[in-house]
Amino acid sequence: MLSLQTRLFFIATLVLVISWLVGDLVSSTAGWLTAVICLGVLLAYQLWHASKLSKLLLTPKHGEIPRAMGIWGEIYYRLHKLTRAWRDQVIEVEQQHQRFIQAIQASPNGVVMLNEEDQMEWCNAFAGAHFGLNARRDAMQRITHILRKPAFVQYILRQNYRDPIRLTNMGLFEEYTLDVQIFPYGDKQKLILSQDVSQIEKTDAMRRDFVANVSHELKTPLTVLAGFLETVQELELSPEDRDRYLELMSIQTGRMKTIVDDLLTLAKLEGNPEPPISQAIPMAKLLEKLKLDAEGLSQGQHQITLTNRTDKNILGDEAEMYSAFSNLVFNAVRYTPEGGKIDVVWENTDHGAEFSVTDTGPGIAEEHIPRLTERFYRIDRSRSRETGGTGLGMAIVKHVINRHQGELKIQSVLGEGSRFSLILTKSRLSSDKNLNEKLN
Ligand SMILES: Nc1ncnc2c1ncn2[C@@H]1O[C@H](COP(=O)(O)OP(=O)(O)OP(=O)(O)O)[C@@H](O)[C@H]1O
Ligand SMILES: [Mg+2]
Repeated sequence: MLSLQTRLFFIATLVLVISWLVGDLVSSTAGWLTAVICLGVLLAYQLWHASKLSKLLLTPKHGEIPRAMGIWGEIYYRLHKLTRAWRDQVIEVEQQHQRFIQAIQASPNGVVMLNEEDQMEWCNAFAGAHFGLNARRDAMQRITHILRKPAFVQYILRQNYRDPIRLTNMGLFEEYTLDVQIFPYGDKQKLILSQDVSQIEKTDAMRRDFVANVSHELKTPLTVLAGFLETVQELELSPEDRDRYLELMSIQTGRMKTIVDDLLTLAKLEGNPEPPISQAIPMAKLLEKLKLDAEGLSQGQHQITLTNRTDKNILGDEAEMYSAFSNLVFNAVRYTPEGGKIDVVWENTDHGAEFSVTDTGPGIAEEHIPRLTERFYRIDRSRSRETGGTGLGMAIVKHVINRHQGELKIQSVLGEGSRFSLILTKSRLSSDKNLNEKLN
């Protein structure tokens, strides 16, 4: 393709040659006239396209190329190519920007961008939720005007952002505990990152409570034991008194052992993988044993009935299931006064099977029910201690049933009695009596 200069040179030469020929063949005046007319036509053509180009540049229409011959056709074509390349570049930058924004939005942390005046330029959705900010409404507002928490204001003014700060009671709709850190970047701009540590904080609090509870529970029998030891060592005791003290000491060590055993059971339940579904628990045998053990504990003080209405067996861990069932039955025996009735039922439901223990005991006030499965939670501490309870039983029941994908239900009416039930779904049940033989 010819260059623009070559084309211009070619046109000028053509006008010159034509004018010279006309001048030579007709007259010199005709030659000059031809040159003036040709140049005039050329000039008008150039001016017309120049004005067209000027209009086009002022109000560009995407994708539209004016048609023209020669140099102007070439100019329009090149301009069109250039704008298309720019447009593609703009689209690519825009897409990159969108991807970047989406990536920051997908991050589980809050991100706030501040300019050199500490005004908010942008924030992601998590930052919105964490700090109660609105990316549009609060844009270009000074951050200390919209986030007025004194600890945060001090932190931002301190200009030392090496460590994060922890802010509690944050958020509008949810209560967050946040770790917040500022990262300066660019030219005096700042990035605020927030991380939701509510769950970690809760777990920490639970751990602290747990350690305090364990220490407290072990401290009581230990103090009693130390007192008895001192008495036995320092006083001249008759053999009968000595035996009595030794027996009381053995009760306290037994109590400590129960606590430690229950804690170990819980730790094992938490740490072990879920029981496999390859083992069927022979329910008829297990229920018979349960009834005998309950009668042993009751010593004839209660009327205990066992109703087995289904031949379904549970697929899971026998020792775990027994400890869950026995805690429910033993609780009923322990907390139901003499002469009370305890009914143990194993039956089918629409979606599986249910093990229930119903007693005519004192019942449980509504506010205690959701807390029964907390470790060491006892309604009446002194009474529970009298009966040897540590308050870990229901926590174990809850863990066991969760590990078998089942559900624990507690219904109770104060003064009338309680019903504790464990519901198992079909996936954890089998009615095939010979399953174990088949699997082994
Ligand atoms: N059938 C029931 N009737 C009335 N209160 C009950 C009954 N079962 C449980 N509770 C209350 O729930 C509390 C928690 O029971 P949980 O089995 O967890 O602990 P515990 O029986 O005191 O001790 P542990 O089972 O660890 O030996 C008991 O202390 C008791 O106050
Ligand atoms: Mg118990």
